[in-house]
Amino acid sequence: MKGPLGQGLHLARRFFGSLSRAEPGPADTAWVEGVLLPGERGLWARMSAPDRRHAVGVARAVQAEMGPAATRPVLAAALLHDVGKVDSGLGTLARVLATVAGRPAVRRRSAELAGRGGPLGRLGRYLRHPEIGGDLLRAAGSDSLTRAWSESHHRPEERWDPAVPVETGRVLKAADDD
Ligand SMILES: [Fe+2]
Ligand SMILES: [Fe+2]
Repeated sequence: MKGPLGQGLHLARRFFGSLSRAEPGPADTAWVEGVLLPGERGLWARMSAPDRRHAVGVARAVQAEMGPAATRPVLAAALLHDVGKVDSGLGTLARVLATVAGRPAVRRRSAELAGRGGPLGRLGRYLRHPEIGGDLLRAAGSDSLTRAWSESHHRPEERWDPAVPVETGRVLKAADDD
């Protein structure tokens, strides 16, 4: 559903979904361990349970869509695109508010906000989760596609990093409903 009503329903669903602390199941966890590089596994362990459940859903959808063309770096991109959120320290309700606040006007100030302390700093870092995630993935030794998708996943297609093949980016974007 598109439009304000559809978006409201989506946010409500995400809010209630994010209240659950349930971990991904054992089969999903074993699959993820097999996909991620050792350095990436450390980042995965720092992600919140709701973020990990979301990431598994994205990666499973990408695998179903692409089949064998879903290479390890592509699946890692699906699993770790939101990893930069580990640095925000933002709670559930604040994240939903951040999504609403994450409009272009606020986003333009996110770099400046990210350097601050307190709630505004956390909001700024949350809005900069693509760039922060890119830095974490670079340090973890991720493939360039994995790192580039974290940095690109909230940008319009024409501004995607060239390390992301357009067809692959479209599948990743369609599977990521946030
Ligand atoms: Fe994101
Ligand atoms: Fe996402």
